[in-house]
Amino acid sequence: MKIMIGNDHTSPDMKWEIVKFLEGMGHEVINCGVDTTKSCDYPQIGEKVGRAVAAGKADCGVLICGTGVGISLAANKVHGVRAAVCSDVTTARLVKQHNNANIIAFGARIVGLETAKDIVKAYLEAEFEGGRHQTRIDIIHEIEERI
Ligand code: RB5
Repeated sequence: MKIMIGNDHTSPDMKWEIVKFLEGMGHEVINCGVDTTKSCDYPQIGEKVGRAVAAGKADCGVLICGTGVGISLAANKVHGVRAAVCSDVTTARLVKQHNNANIIAFGARIVGLETAKDIVKAYLEAEFEGGRHQTRIDIIHEIEERI
């Protein structure tokens, strides 16, 4: 899979560890995050990953900021994006199975590296279940179309 990853200043080290982990799983990773701890604004990074995923330039995205929240809020402003913040493996699995999340986000100040890897792995290995979950996603996108 082609995976786009973005991060702010809270997480260049964690980002590179996740890039290595994903490449080790055989994925192609595009880095569009920052590589220093100099303070930066996360919304542009969330938007960039969101736009790439929505346009099909990447199969899915990984976003990291302090909590995972700010950067995912920005990504979710892009039509077609379903970015989900996860701090545990069960949520990571369910956001794919039920919500067909196309971006997973987590917080470098919230989860440790091993948990972050487990989250990414659980998300990538899970499969969307469709059916009633697709109906609900369709409803979410109808809301989006009315905005
Ligand atoms: C940066 O200090 C922090 O606010 C940001 O990484 C993120 O946690 C926002 O949601």
